[in-house]
Amino acid sequence: MRKPIVAGNWKMNLSLADSRALAAGIVDAVADYSGCEIVVAPSAVSLAGVGEVLADSRVRLAAQNMHWAGGGAYTGELSAQMLADVGASWVILGHSERRQFFGESDEGVNHKTHVALQAGLTPIVCVGETLEEREGERTLQKIELQVRAALAGIRAEDAPRVVIAYEPIWAIGTGKTATAVQAQAIHQAIRKIIAEVFDTSVADALRILYGGSVKPANIAELIAQPDLDGALIGGASLKADSFSAIAKIVDEYTA
Ligand code: PGA
Repeated sequence: MRKPIVAGNWKMNLSLADSRALAAGIVDAVADYSGCEIVVAPSAVSLAGVGEVLADSRVRLAAQNMHWAGGGAYTGELSAQMLADVGASWVILGHSERRQFFGESDEGVNHKTHVALQAGLTPIVCVGETLEEREGERTLQKIELQVRAALAGIRAEDAPRVVIAYEPIWAIGTGKTATAVQAQAIHQAIRKIIAEVFDTSVADALRILYGGSVKPANIAELIAQPDLDGALIGGASLKADSFSAIAKIVDEYTA
């Protein structure tokens, strides 16, 4: 049984005070939704402050990125241990905005996935195709490449701790969601790839999230898909009411 995940990616938004207020609102609103794991990813400078608000709650703290090195001359970067020190237990890796604007490669994402697992952080590894790739019928090819690259060298015993987020780039922040049928087709394909790379028990255990314009109005149809184990949410995670409304629907579906 895969426990669903509702994760909010706050991206480069919110002051420290606003981040803490949002976290407090979410803690209150989701207190009863024990059927799903709830995760929020504030900006790096708000991690420690939000971590204080989340202490003793059921909401987990995630970073939006991390470096693979343990430390050293990497100006502007943060290590896994630094994230763990401020209370993060999850980390988003290879988000399409990191790949697109900051040149993150599949190899780098793989390296970070190894390091996150070693450090005890739960990695949410993002994959997804561009509109051009979808229209050129290269979606599956792209996803397979990204998934296999991200998981290269990961031990089968560690693999179920990895979370994959399928986020079609054309659906992120655009208001266009993949249809539930489109999402399910890719999620099923990802699970098949996981079974090939590892085995069916890993494939059955590993959670695959959908991301891209998820909101209260479309989550019910998405979460009803058999291979969809929750959501990674950008815009709709910036308000406690919309984020908790999504969590409520996921929780009710699980119950
Ligand atoms: P969105 O972002 O929900 O605003 O489309 C999703 C994401 O980038 O993770």
